[in-house]
Amino acid sequence: MFKYVEWLVDSCINSNHAAATLQWRNRIDLPYTFYISIIGDVRVNQHPALASLHTIFMREHNRIATGLGALKNSWSDQIIFDEARKIVGAILQHITYNEYLPEILGSVIMNSNGLNPLSAGYFNGYQSNTNPSIMNEFVTAAFRFGHSMIRDSLNYHGTSLLFKDVFINPVTLYDTNGGIDSITKGLVDSQSQKVDNLITQQVTRHLFERQPGFGADLAAINIQRGRDHGIPFYLLIKKACNVTGNVHNPSIWASLKAIYHIPDDIDLFPAGVSETPVAGGKIGPTFACIIAKQFEALKKGDRYYYENSGSQAFTLDHHIWVSVGLLKDELTRQVSRRLRTRRSLCTNAWTFSATISAKG
Ligand code: HEM
Repeated sequence: MFKYVEWLVDSCINSNHAAATLQWRNRIDLPYTFYISIIGDVRVNQHPALASLHTIFMREHNRIATGLGALKNSWSDQIIFDEARKIVGAILQHITYNEYLPEILGSVIMNSNGLNPLSAGYFNGYQSNTNPSIMNEFVTAAFRFGHSMIRDSLNYHGTSLLFKDVFINPVTLYDTNGGIDSITKGLVDSQSQKVDNLITQQVTRHLFERQPGFGADLAAINIQRGRDHGIPFYLLIKKACNVTGNVHNPSIWASLKAIYHIPDDIDLFPAGVSETPVAGGKIGPTFACIIAKQFEALKKGDRYYYENSGSQAFTLDHHIWVSVGLLKDELTRQVSRRLRTRRSLCTNAWTFSATISAKG
């Protein structure tokens, strides 16, 4: 745990990680002294729901590592760590391709880009000439569609926590109202916003606000970030994706044209996020095209993709899977195919006890 939230803010907002660390390390007279989590990416501390999910998968890792340690006496700590990491990586990939992407992209795009996990056997589609790097259009615009889904608040132990009050403020994780259990229950209990041209003021006026009225604007940052990276404008990308016709509600397209004057200048983020969603999905066709291409490259260009065959493939060592509690009934080769988000949540959070009584 590290105590200096200024370090974090500087590091997150100004991308000034090393300099901020040096600057803040020795200062102890800070007004903000929250405990924050240290993991590979400082952004874990952005809000308590994100920190909770990270913690759940860290616990899953430790749970699996404990099971492996008990089973494999000859394995060193490093091997146990690496094997557990590989299993958790597979769980996350499976949740992403099997549960998350179908919700976002819809079945037609999932099928046409070969994104669905197999129901049996190994995936043999690895292509050594596919570049799995993250595309600029994906990271500066398309995958930021989630910013339109952010709610005003988190449900927490019977109350609502406005996002502006919990940015980089993890105190709820450590309080006596259930902490991570209550945060994850609240997440399961609440709906996200639709992906559209509207974004909550919690992030367009109050992002990382430290004095009332002086928050940042995430929508503006997204647009600016796209320009920083020199990504093409919306209409060019739409054309490159073979998206034709009018894919916006006419009044939204009229607003975009009025704001930009020249349609060719319209930025990718605002136009993409406000497209009408594809059938069965949550986002419009241009963002869906970029996101599908990115996840296709991540699948086909990664030798370590969890369904692959080859020397790094998951093995038939059923005993391991059974002993670490990943398999309860039948034995399958690709055990991670059987996992669902809810399993990880139920095993690693919600440790409360409940009393159920019949209604009279
Ligand atoms: C309360 C929730 C969220 C907050 C406060 C938030 C905030 C931020 C901030 C401050 C940035 C950095 C912007 C920049 O400097 O360019 C960012 C980047 C990003 N966000 Fe979010 N975000 C949230 C949720 C989401 C969701 C739900 C998604 C996707 C489903 C998402 C996707 C991204 C992506 C792809 C980036 C770019 C990351 C990178 O450049 O490495 N965010 N977000």
